[in-house]
Amino acid sequence: MIIAIDGPSGAGKSTVAKAVAKKLDFDCLDTGAMYRAVAWKALQDGVALDDAAGLEAIAVNDAIDFGRDGGSQTVAIAGYDVTAAIRTAEIDRAVSPVSACPAVREALVEQQRRIGLAGNYVVEGRDIGTVVFPAAEVKVFLTASPEERAHRRVRQNVDRGIGSIDYQTVLADIIRRDDIDSNRAASPLKPAEDAVPMDSTGTYIEDVIDAICDLAYARGAERA
Ligand code: DC
Repeated sequence: MIIAIDGPSGAGKSTVAKAVAKKLDFDCLDTGAMYRAVAWKALQDGVALDDAAGLEAIAVNDAIDFGRDGGSQTVAIAGYDVTAAIRTAEIDRAVSPVSACPAVREALVEQQRRIGLAGNYVVEGRDIGTVVFPAAEVKVFLTASPEERAHRRVRQNVDRGIGSIDYQTVLADIIRRDDIDSNRAASPLKPAEDAVPMDSTGTYIEDVIDAICDLAYARGAERA
């Protein structure tokens, strides 16, 4: 079974996806981490962010591997562990042009399908219900107000010790990225017609998690 969770950055997708996967004993696939890993490799190799052929070569040739370190997931590209390195403000900025590149999307979507079809997965991203897994059994479009998302991101950056902790800077960045992600030509951020909309603004995250698990149970997921 595939549970697709799409929505803008900071809506709570990662927290919700991890918790739903744990409750249902599913695996989790963070597709944003794959775009971030390609952006990291591009910066590392000096590939310009508008060099479509250079970006495509990375997405096609440099293997992205997910692993485990205790309870948390790790990400590597071309053998480099980039788990922490892909969460910096520099990558936040570089990843939008990378994810707008159609050839990169094509290469990563193919890998996402291969991974997801191998088991039961909660897959989070922007285009999971629309492009990657249009036949997903459960599709959720998770949103929250930009202000709420900026507050959450600032708290997250404080906890991680990386990224900006200035609310106005973070809010401006969220609005800018929403605009790029929603208006790009290749797979813009938009809900699938059959996605269930959920707004996590001012809602207990546990309620969102329970609601998604209920949708999965209704589609035949077993209670773990
Ligand atoms: O979810 P995130 O912030 O880690 O995503 C990083 C970037 O990748 C963001 O600019 C949106 C983009 N992305 C995408 O275009 N498609 C996906 N399926 C996942 C992420």
